[in-house]
Amino acid sequence: MITIDALHQLKAKGEKFCCIAAYDAAFARLIAAAGIEVVLVGDSLGMVLQGRDSTLPVSIDEMAYHTRCAARGNAAAETPALVMGDMPFMSYGAPEQALQSAAALMRAGAHCVKMEGGAWLCESIRQLVERGVPVCAHLGLTPQSINVFSGFRVQGREAASAERMLKDAAAVEEAGASLLLLECIPAPLAAELSRKAGVPVIGIGAGPGADAQVLVLHDMLGLNERPPRFVEDFLSGQPGGIPAALRAFRDAVKSGAFPAPRHCYE
Ligand code: KIV
Repeated sequence: MITIDALHQLKAKGEKFCCIAAYDAAFARLIAAAGIEVVLVGDSLGMVLQGRDSTLPVSIDEMAYHTRCAARGNAAAETPALVMGDMPFMSYGAPEQALQSAAALMRAGAHCVKMEGGAWLCESIRQLVERGVPVCAHLGLTPQSINVFSGFRVQGREAASAERMLKDAAAVEEAGASLLLLECIPAPLAAELSRKAGVPVIGIGAGPGADAQVLVLHDMLGLNERPPRFVEDFLSGQPGGIPAALRAFRDAVKSGAFPAPRHCYE
């Protein structure tokens, strides 16, 4: 099984790794079988599976259900991936609530949890790690905050917000976060954050400098009619079907071919 420690060793060796956001048993098994190290059961399921226009309506019960499904499929693979459960909107507003929500996802089969936010999360991160829950802190475009950002917008373009992100990353790492995830930020800023971080950094729309890349399954299978610029369709023209598309994503990340400049923000 892929562990947090294994991901840290990959970073230490300068070897890239991959993650896919997926929500059910069948795909989780295929993803792990393709040698992709992390299955993220993301709250993107609110938009991808439920057809909502944001992730905000997704509940902790829905996340636990999909985590349970994905964890079962993943466990059936020869080398299971690390399963990351995403804490949905307002399920971790205070440390006590974060403990309850994380317990629901870990009982459902997650090996770690992801929360969106920076320095304000530090107390929750400390308490979760002390109680045995590894945490990934999600910075940059945090979709649960689209109403604060006034839409899905690239973050960290101005010097002040880039500086704030650097401070947030240092704070959550100091509090005990085992992983960072950066979404939709300029590639040079992501490269700087990844260089400075002592923990692996997973990027989406964050350029090639991150230690790992994540895409939403349905996006990388070409099912999104209006894909963001950081998405590549790995299925189109692929004679081997979905398993081959997953392997193509893994190989492109490992070789550094993905993401290319056309996928990045400057
Ligand atoms: O919910 C999700 O799938 C995510 C990824 C897009 C990083 O957070």
